[in-house]
Amino acid sequence: MSYPATRLRRLRTSPAMRRLVRETALTAGHLVYPLFVRPGKNIKIPIPSMTDCFHLSPENAAQEAKEAAKLGIGAVLLFGLPDKKDSAGSEAYSPDSAVAEAVKRIKDAAGELVVCTDVCLCAYTDHGHCGLIEDGKIQNDKTCRLLGQMALVHAKAGADVVAPSDMMDGRVSVIRKMLDADGLTDTAIMAYSAKYASAYYGPFREAAGSAPAQGDRKSYQMDPANTRQAMREIQLDIEEGADIVMVKPALAYLDVVRMARDRFDVPIAAYNVSGEYMMLNAAADAGLLDRTQAMLEILTAFKRAGADIIITYFAKSAAAALSKI
Ligand code: PBG
Ligand code: ZN
Repeated sequence: MSYPATRLRRLRTSPAMRRLVRETALTAGHLVYPLFVRPGKNIKIPIPSMTDCFHLSPENAAQEAKEAAKLGIGAVLLFGLPDKKDSAGSEAYSPDSAVAEAVKRIKDAAGELVVCTDVCLCAYTDHGHCGLIEDGKIQNDKTCRLLGQMALVHAKAGADVVAPSDMMDGRVSVIRKMLDADGLTDTAIMAYSAKYASAYYGPFREAAGSAPAQGDRKSYQMDPANTRQAMREIQLDIEEGADIVMVKPALAYLDVVRMARDRFDVPIAAYNVSGEYMMLNAAADAGLLDRTQAMLEILTAFKRAGADIIITYFAKSAAAALSKI
């Protein structure tokens, strides 16, 4: 049947009709809100490179998490900054880290929220790389053990999910084994599985002070030209025990999200990274785009491509906008 008997515009005649036939639903419960935590008290410093984002001391992170929970947001993802960086990134796996304290405070303040923590060394190392460096080389296997210690600290503090973002080989299996050996069998792993060496991390590296002092991350993060390799990364992470896998960045990698959705049955997270966030904010600030409409369009695209979970700095404004639709 075709025109004139068939008229697809019939399904677009009213808001209610459009809602009735809508194929993709965006919900606050699937959003993850990233927070930047640093040691101290009473700290809430705006991050110059990222609109509406702050460096927060643990008690203020808990306050922010509480607001997110009120908006129906599903989870927070904590990134930590240390007081002091060193070559081994020691503060990353210290039980006294700002992240460990923030996890405890958030669990007290907003128990219904899922608390995820980023597990990586780059914000804590003086060289800014995600792995330990010896003899001028990233030490893959030693790094995995340090990441395991970091995950253990976060899990013991009460984190529901640990999220390794380093892209070392085998880290998911090492983390799983170390958690299980300590009886932390309920702590889930969200693996940054298909994480690309991307220019879109620029504003975040400013915020986390985590840009590599020398070189780049191309020996561990993926080449943006590859998709088959992304499927291998995801498959290996699932085999190693990842409960949730991630594609990062999201916007320029929707094909990877779709491919992963069609192949794997685990929950898939898409990370709407800092550069994507600031691209939209810059365009909106310049009066070129409607911020809220463009934001909802992009977030919907992640869902349409097959993502279950969306990690986004827009989480609060998206949840607020969704509550009005
Ligand atoms: C560090 C890390 C990065 C991001 C999350 N964890 C930066 C990087 O790998 O250089 C990027 C997040 C963003 O850009 O929003 N392992
Ligand atoms: Zn890192």
